[in-house]
Amino acid sequence: MRYSLSLHVVGLVCALALLGAQRAIGWELSYEAYHAAHLNEAISLDDDDNPGSIGNNLLLPFNRTRVPGSEGSRAVREFIVEHFNSTLAGEWAVETQPFEENGYNFTNLVMTLQNNASEYVVLAAHYDTKIEPAGMVGAIDSAASCAALMYVAQFVAHVARHERATEQARLETEGPVVTGSALGVKIVFFDGEEALEEWGPEDSIYGARRLAAQWLADGTMPSVRLLLLMDLLGSGEAEPMVPSYHADSHQEYQLLNRIEDDLLFRRSASASESSPLAAQVARQRKRLDPTDYRYLALGRAVVDDDHTPFLAAGVPVLHAIPLPFPSTWHTVRDDFRHLDAAEARHWALLVCEFVVQSLRARAQR
Ligand SMILES: *[C@@H]1O[C@H](CO)[C@@H](O)[C@H](O)[C@H]1NC(C)=O
Ligand SMILES: *[C@@H]1O[C@H](CO)[C@@H](O)[C@H](O)[C@H]1NC(C)=O
Ligand SMILES: *[C@@H]1O[C@H](CO)[C@@H](O)[C@H](O)[C@H]1NC(C)=O
Ligand SMILES: *[C@@H]1O[C@H](CO)[C@@H](O)[C@H](O)[C@H]1NC(C)=O
Ligand SMILES: [Zn+2]
Repeated sequence: MRYSLSLHVVGLVCALALLGAQRAIGWELSYEAYHAAHLNEAISLDDDDNPGSIGNNLLLPFNRTRVPGSEGSRAVREFIVEHFNSTLAGEWAVETQPFEENGYNFTNLVMTLQNNASEYVVLAAHYDTKIEPAGMVGAIDSAASCAALMYVAQFVAHVARHERATEQARLETEGPVVTGSALGVKIVFFDGEEALEEWGPEDSIYGARRLAAQWLADGTMPSVRLLLLMDLLGSGEAEPMVPSYHADSHQEYQLLNRIEDDLLFRRSASASESSPLAAQVARQRKRLDPTDYRYLALGRAVVDDDHTPFLAAGVPVLHAIPLPFPSTWHTVRDDFRHLDAAEARHWALLVCEFVVQSLRARAQR
């Protein structure tokens, strides 16, 4: 992706006026045990537990180049599809969407939660890597985001299964979250986000342009309530933060921010032994900054990325990308040594809770 910065504050007052009312939230304590049992293993830089095998690790298979049409791309795609097809069997519908453009083969992966919904929150990241510099494995760009989304998928499948196994009486009082929501989830792994030669409208976001055109043609686009696009997450660098970019997703940004506050609060307030969830986050650090209105105030996108054609189609977009970009961006240093698995786990937790709360808000009783 690429960014163009020319900040001014003309729209600031308008942006401030848009800050909406807030819903109360509370972390689902019942999910803590699941995260405690699975998250560290799923998103880890360490294969010591299982030497020679990556077992349930969702991150390490991304430690290779994934240029469109290459063997690395095929292998990683197979790994993703296998996760949704086998591990999460039956909970997600898997679509692989191959196409050819500009002399390259690309394949988008579109996973849909089978909860019979009519509207969707779409979670997305790109799985391809840049051709140059040769050997760049794109740890933050965007291996960490892809692994986080694969974890979110397995978490949501767990919640759905749990709900089906839980007695009717309890569901009637508390309400189902996943299985009974009018809102569904799609998880998209875009191919071809990176330019093949030089970034431009015709040489970038190949997969996103293709999927947006398809969703406009087949009538899916109007059912997309939100696109949450994750990119350049997982860096070990203390800065930068992830600001809010778009007024029409600012309310969702605030929800994500409250979830983050709640997570960090739990970590500091409850003794770490008593909160397995708290122990999952390596340290106390905010990633979201709801007081930064600079980009909201501009009223236009400053970062070119996979969201662009969806934004153009009127879809509200929550762009989870730090700005300025981490220093390893588009260099060979964007490798797994410069990746912070705790950071990737942090995002996985935020998005898990974000999905649960979004679905719960649309529960059908
Ligand atoms: C990632 O791959 C490189 C090159 O194959 C290897 O040296 C490195 O140990 C791997 N990193 C991890 C965390 O497995
Ligand atoms: C896995 O996904 C592919 C879609 O790429 C589908 O054709 C295939 O039937 C699925 N396999 C299983 C076991 O569900
Ligand atoms: C794309 O894939 C098709 C089918 O596998 C193959 O025949 C074709 O040569 C590929 N094109 C490129 C540019 O690699
Ligand atoms: C899905 O929703 C439609 C429309 O609300 C309904 O007619 C159908 O029975 C539902 N299917 C399942 C499997 O719940
Ligand atoms: Zn990139």
